[in-house]
Amino acid sequence: MMVRESIPLSVLTTLKVGGLARYVAECTTVEHVREAVAYAKKQNVPFYVLGEGSNLLAPDAGYEGLIIHIRVPDFEVKDDGPFIAGAGVVWDQIVRQASLRGLWGIENLAAIPGTMGAAPVQNIGAYGAELKDTLLYVEALDSNTDTLHTFPASECAFGYRDSRFKRERNLIITKVALALSKNGAPRVEYKDLLARKEAGESLGTPAEIAAVVRSVRAQKFPDLSAFGTAGSFFKNPVIPEAAYEELRAQYPEMPGFPVEGGMKIPLAWILDNVLALRGYSRGPASLFERQPLVLVAHEGARAEDVDALANDVAQKVFDATRIRIEREVQSLA
Ligand code: EPU
Repeated sequence: MMVRESIPLSVLTTLKVGGLARYVAECTTVEHVREAVAYAKKQNVPFYVLGEGSNLLAPDAGYEGLIIHIRVPDFEVKDDGPFIAGAGVVWDQIVRQASLRGLWGIENLAAIPGTMGAAPVQNIGAYGAELKDTLLYVEALDSNTDTLHTFPASECAFGYRDSRFKRERNLIITKVALALSKNGAPRVEYKDLLARKEAGESLGTPAEIAAVVRSVRAQKFPDLSAFGTAGSFFKNPVIPEAAYEELRAQYPEMPGFPVEGGMKIPLAWILDNVLALRGYSRGPASLFERQPLVLVAHEGARAEDVDALANDVAQKVFDATRIRIEREVQSLA
């Protein structure tokens, strides 16, 4: 395992902001992950586990700890058997490999940034699918006890952009197994996909669906190589049904989807239609014109600019709707 020192967090994260990480451990094997944990203990510093860094806002003050950079590679596919991949494999590579083999289950999740190991942490989801729908098990190293554990999906406490791995930071994901199948069916009920289908595009195979999802996303999301961004910056809020009805009295067009615990409201709709915040900017940070749930950190932006814009937006949403929104993007703690 190699440890590098004083590495800018801006190069390790897709928001491209943040100060220096004191240590960064490059881990390509489970053994490396074990060594990295031992290293943090020896130096008496905290650690934070990072994949592609596509869901992290790193502070300008940097991190006085060890970044455990997960790069565990390799995957293994068996026809109609589990699809097993190391935590460091780039997520979209998994989608491509599955599509190539005609395996169903994750095609709607094409082009989501991040790694295999990060995917279960926030239970990635898009276009009517979530990772939990196909996840078989997660293998993780418990840094407290230095033991490897296997967690079946039923023990992962999956929720909307949520899992136990978000809270139990001692569990470091090293490997993930998915249950993909040759005998699947297209899930194209989501508005954007239906529209493409009605326009005559073919959505009959995993590869075709993945290709359409990539093209929809390319139109909606900023290019990670050109902009500092982390996808949706906030979660869509879930509010009690009564609160939703009150808001509907004021905004009859406000969409809402029944979920466990209430109604899920597309925050992008509120930002656009209630607050007219598409493209809203504060200094070098802005809300993306085509999808205001996405925050963009422009050239020269610092974490404090991102924080200031995010707090400003949260306050505006609260003032207009009494909804307290939560960030989807994580902080370094
Ligand atoms: N809308 C507007 N104006 C806009 C954009 C959207 O009014 O400028 C409204 C529309 O009514 C639209 C609704 O907002 O139907 C929802 O927008 P969209 O379909 O783009 O999805 P989203 O709820 O904003 C979620 C996920 C995305 C995922 C998409 C597609 C969260 C936090 N975000 O966004 O996930 O790709 O659905 O399924 O749940 C991510 O988590 O980082 C992420 C990108």
